[in-house]
Amino acid sequence: MKSNSWGKFFGITTFGESHGKAMGVVLEDIKPGLVFPHQQLQSALARRKPGQNKFTSARQETDDYQILSGVFDGITTGMPICIIFPNRDARSQDYEDIKNLFRPGHADFSYFKKFKIFDYRGGGRASGRETICRVAAAEIVDYLLQNIKIQMYAVQIGKMKAAKKCIPPSNTLWWPDNNITAVENYLQQVQEKKNSVGGIVEAVIDNIPPGWGDPVFRKLDAALAEAILSLGAVKGIEFGDGFALAAQTGSQANDQMNEKGFLSNHCGGILGGISTGEQIKFRFVVKPTPSIARRQQTITKSGKSASISISGRHDVCVVPRLIPAAIAMVKLVLADAASYQKLVENKTQNLTDLRESIDKIDEDILIALTRRNHISQAIGKLKKQKEMPVKDIQREEKLLQNLQIKAKEWQLNSAAVEKIWKIILAESRKQQ
Ligand SMILES: Cc1cc2nc3c(=O)[nH]c(=O)nc-3n(C[C@H](O)[C@H](O)[C@H](O)COP(=O)(O)O)c2cc1C
Repeated sequence: MKSNSWGKFFGITTFGESHGKAMGVVLEDIKPGLVFPHQQLQSALARRKPGQNKFTSARQETDDYQILSGVFDGITTGMPICIIFPNRDARSQDYEDIKNLFRPGHADFSYFKKFKIFDYRGGGRASGRETICRVAAAEIVDYLLQNIKIQMYAVQIGKMKAAKKCIPPSNTLWWPDNNITAVENYLQQVQEKKNSVGGIVEAVIDNIPPGWGDPVFRKLDAALAEAILSLGAVKGIEFGDGFALAAQTGSQANDQMNEKGFLSNHCGGILGGISTGEQIKFRFVVKPTPSIARRQQTITKSGKSASISISGRHDVCVVPRLIPAAIAMVKLVLADAASYQKLVENKTQNLTDLRESIDKIDEDILIALTRRNHISQAIGKLKKQKEMPVKDIQREEKLLQNLQIKAKEWQLNSAAVEKIWKIILAESRKQQ
């Protein structure tokens, strides 16, 4: 089952359950030689942490992490990076009373139907805690997104709609309007009524060059939609004017151009699956948190009618918890697109990139020389068996002649090639 892995140019695999020993992520194909971004990672984890306001789960995780592999002396080695986040504040007893019941709106029923078993403690794998792995992974590939600015904020929480947008929001609800107290009072009432609400999140991404993304099956909007919809509780996404495009005419919806650029951005910065260079804009809808203290109807694992009231620590609204994870998913998608774009443009950008390529080639030459030595040793043994001399002047002359012909064909300096191979041949004789 590959559903726990994601990525084309680098890969992430996440593992762990909400109340298991730990959550974890393995990242593959991360560039060697990068300074591991501890501080950046810790800031991102702090933004994602539960318990930042009284409307998010009161679970108090330290969110400390252990790096098991792929980082040596603080530097990435190019090997798989494995990071684990021990679960230190799981309260599995909260789930004891409901372990045989399916929580309406949660993944318990469908997981059980599929696997015939499910870890009822805190939603197991279908828990918001899983997003910690995505947030960590995104910070490690963030170096690919140097000038790119990703902003997200809530535009609706339950019935409350933001009229004004001041971004980035300076409150833990990610609310961009100045009526934050009204939203808090509203959430307080929802909580007192033992209920929950959902919301709508808006994302704006600036400084994406034109050309990122791919046609047909791997369109940038499709990749972003997949990434955002892979987060728990997200139920819909729209790009640019989105569903409102249905009521527009072509002349209203088209983004016309003049010599200075686009005159509008109804498409949300992506055409044909590829970025236009304009701001990328999308919105997504988050459903109300499934676990509520209000009594609801459900069934037991054996299919008998029952009722359920869920205590424990839950988000009244998932939106504020989800935004850092959604930013992480956007970072992962864009980092993947950036890696591919580098390849398409075949652009080796700076001295460091060029030196990296040279280092790789030098390594290949060393590997080839090692293989050559091994073969020379084998030849040496055969010559000994057949009592042949080590030096074979005719063979060496022929070999040098052939190399000279090839060197000329490939426009290499044939005198230099001869010099290099004379050293290699002398070394070969020593091996024999
Ligand atoms: C960051 C985050 C926090 C969440 N917090 C809760 C929670 O406290 N209680 C709950 O019942 N669901 C919570 N959810 C939602 C469930 O994980 C989600 O609804 C469930 O897995 C079912 O999946 P679906 O809604 O995508 O169908 C959270 C999701 C995320 C992404």
